[in-house]
Amino acid sequence: MHSCLKRIFAQPLIQAPMVGVSTPQMAAAVSNAGGLGSLGIGASPVAAAQDMIEETRGRTSAAFNVNVFCHPPPQRDSAVEAEWLEYLAPIFHEFGFTPPAALKEIYKSFVEDEEAFRMLLIMRPKIVSFHFGLPPQDRINAMRDAGILTMATATNVDEVRLIEAAGIDVVVAQGVEAGGHRGQFALSERDLGLSLSVLIRLAVRSTRLPVIAAGGIMDVQGVRAALALGAAAVQMGTAFVLCPESAADSTYRAALKSERAIDTRLTSAISGRPARGIANRFMEIGAMGPPVPSYPVAYDVGKRLHTVTRAKGCDAFGAYWAGQGAALAREMPAAKLVADILRQI
Ligand SMILES: Cc1cc2nc3c(=O)[nH]c(=O)nc-3n(C[C@H](O)[C@H](O)[C@H](O)COP(=O)(O)O)c2cc1C
Repeated sequence: MHSCLKRIFAQPLIQAPMVGVSTPQMAAAVSNAGGLGSLGIGASPVAAAQDMIEETRGRTSAAFNVNVFCHPPPQRDSAVEAEWLEYLAPIFHEFGFTPPAALKEIYKSFVEDEEAFRMLLIMRPKIVSFHFGLPPQDRINAMRDAGILTMATATNVDEVRLIEAAGIDVVVAQGVEAGGHRGQFALSERDLGLSLSVLIRLAVRSTRLPVIAAGGIMDVQGVRAALALGAAAVQMGTAFVLCPESAADSTYRAALKSERAIDTRLTSAISGRPARGIANRFMEIGAMGPPVPSYPVAYDVGKRLHTVTRAKGCDAFGAYWAGQGAALAREMPAAKLVADILRQI
């Protein structure tokens, strides 16, 4: 087995990369506690991403994972964007703000981000993971030649096979329970919405690669269940949102600690891609609206709507990404969360 793989599966617990939530402090705390910490740099400018990697290295000598977004670059459609802005405009007015006149692509996909690719090759993190698809083959090959272990998210068997065929080292099987964005590649095809227990079984039967289970795993019982189904390790996201090392703000934390956490839903309205979070007014309004612009263009107005409504004390438009197990989230330091689980597996 690859020596990096041994390092990961010595302790089968990965803290999910979470843009907006995971931090160098969190990733380092998890890796220092014997799990595998992750950074999500998918929405960060290259210099900020490099700083995050350097800061994490300053806090741990153990391996950690760096995650990038490989979505198809957005297809801009000015009519769709104008109609969406017009649809959301009354909410801006309701809170006393002027709606934006236009939308921006707020961050680039790794598939076309040469600068981010070069930075990763120079920084050479031990592990890089891909969400929303795969980078071009020559980049995967270059990372492998640089000794970087690669992982990629799959939500169905077709994606598992594509990941294996591309020479990626590890599959992250993401069930429909998972918090945050669904990682499926082909948005034009129907999302099968496979639950984690079925997806793990299908994945381990269709690949020789190690399969990591992600979605709704909140405690040692969930970890044991995923391992019993054949997963080589688990990747937990929502379970870490309440940790003191998390970048989640006070309204996000309050929502997660409230009774609202029992109701999570998938929506494309906030960002332009399906993602699971705590149900709110944005999701309801979005479900009745016109077509949503492409990811991450729609996220531009989604984030602005949250900023302006929050400034007026309203938390009904936040992207409080969380999995179906959200109501099981506990507030504790990341190192304790990891150590408690690893002790009991
Ligand atoms: C707040 C949040 C942000 C996330 N951001 C990312 C990300 O940047 N990259 C990624 O690959 N997955 C991301 N995910 C998905 C996780 O990798 C993982 O699939 C998910 O957290 C597993 O489900 P759970 O949250 O129920 O544990 C995110 C999840 C959450 C909850």
